Amino acid sequence: MSYVIGIDLGTSAVKSVLVDRSGKVVCEESEAYPLYQPQPGYSEQDAEDWVEKTVLSLNRLLAASGVKPEEIEGISFSGQMHGLVLVGEDGRALRRAILWNDTRTTPQCRRIERTLGDKLLKIARNRALEGFTLPKILWVQEYEPEILERASLFLLPKDYVRLRLTGSAAMDYSDAAGTLLLDVAGKEWSTEIAEAFGLKASLFPPLVESFDDTGSLLPEMQASTGLTEKTRVYAGGADNACGAIGAGILNEGQTMCSIGTSGVVLSYETRRDLDFEGKVHFFNHGEKDAFYIMGVTLAAGYSMQWFRETFGGGQSFEDLLAGIGEVAPGANGLLFTPYIVGERTPHPDSDIRGSFVGIDASHKLPHFARAVMEGITFSLRESIDILRAAGKTVDKVVSIGGGAKNQEWLQMQADVFGADVVKLESEQGPAMGAAMLAAFGSGWFETLQDCAREFIREAKTYTPDARRTEVYSKLFDVYRDVYGQTAELNRRLAAFRGGDN
Ligand code: XUL
Repeated sequence: MSYVIGIDLGTSAVKSVLVDRSGKVVCEESEAYPLYQPQPGYSEQDAEDWVEKTVLSLNRLLAASGVKPEEIEGISFSGQMHGLVLVGEDGRALRRAILWNDTRTTPQCRRIERTLGDKLLKIARNRALEGFTLPKILWVQEYEPEILERASLFLLPKDYVRLRLTGSAAMDYSDAAGTLLLDVAGKEWSTEIAEAFGLKASLFPPLVESFDDTGSLLPEMQASTGLTEKTRVYAGGADNACGAIGAGILNEGQTMCSIGTSGVVLSYETRRDLDFEGKVHFFNHGEKDAFYIMGVTLAAGYSMQWFRETFGGGQSFEDLLAGIGEVAPGANGLLFTPYIVGERTPHPDSDIRGSFVGIDASHKLPHFARAVMEGITFSLRESIDILRAAGKTVDKVVSIGGGAKNQEWLQMQADVFGADVVKLESEQGPAMGAAMLAAFGSGWFETLQDCAREFIREAKTYTPDARRTEVYSKLFDVYRDVYGQTAELNRRLAAFRGGDN
């Protein structure tokens, strides 16, 4: 038998899956690591934790599966996007990584806009958002200049782990697209952007395709993981690109909705000249010369988690959500906007905050739970509407992540999106996408699409219910007005945040 391993380097844990030639997950393993939030808005991780836990995860995966190490042909990665790792001469991180959900860089974003003007959207194809990598580099340039001076390279999270495993540095296009330093359509580092901010050319790693072979494991890494030099290491991709590959989003007209901590609506695209005026992200896919358009709800699953922890009185998700089927669509006039950590699509606004609108004395906990779920889904519908407005047909959406674990939520997505919503048979998310990149890289399939046909199976389709779709479409009109009606209030309230003792 032969196998591949997909490694998903997430924000809370690294997950690895061992997959056979039919796409069956033979074994999986997960190791958690801490997140550091030393100040409001800061979000950092120790890059060494990623390396240590990835090695441990591979080691435990091998031990638990009983598979012979020589049978593992390839490994590849999916990584949390945008995180800045500055690497020194010795190949080690010079400071903690600054992550995608760190929001300290608003002034640096404004500097990027002032300096580049229209060129930013023309070249990098995305707006300057706090989460992206260039603003983080500029923050270090401003506040820790000696660290940037000492850096010989910048990498993204999974690229640092791959560097430590193989000794060679590289970054794939799908992840490089989230730095704001890539000419996305031209597939090369933008010297124009780099020079505008005085970034030396040596900082930029070589660019590769997600399925490119980047070498084998260093001898000490073979010893600690239990793998051999026979296992090839393929570059891997951004977690959203890998999530798309793992959900089979590899052809024109295919759309995915992924609800994790953040929520993502993503659609496959091959045209490189589309202009969404920065309203949605436009990134390179893990497939060669393909792209994807993506809208992000910053707090999707996170809104649900926050609600459970704050108001759920210790109930499990299952218990908390058990009652929502008894509540009619619209939660009896209660509406929630999920802006609890700011928002990205369609409102790139780090000051906006969430609201419950229409609280009535008759509302009980299940009304609030339903309103939270509906609000998250409305937010994702806003991204779908941007795709539709640009002429894309969205009549079928593959749903993955937390939103695909609950029947009620799957049906709600169909009703709110006005599209068929598909649940997959065995859904492994980005880790499966990474395994597919390793399988394709290893030559198991002619194309990634062939791999998807073999590996991915649909389990159930949820179709929109005409009556509920009508109710939701009226409610959605109200939802869309809440942002404009509360933006100024939230800007004034921002002065009162961060005052807890
Ligand atoms: C995408 C983004 C997140 C992270 C999460 O732009 O910031 O989806 O990739 O890991």
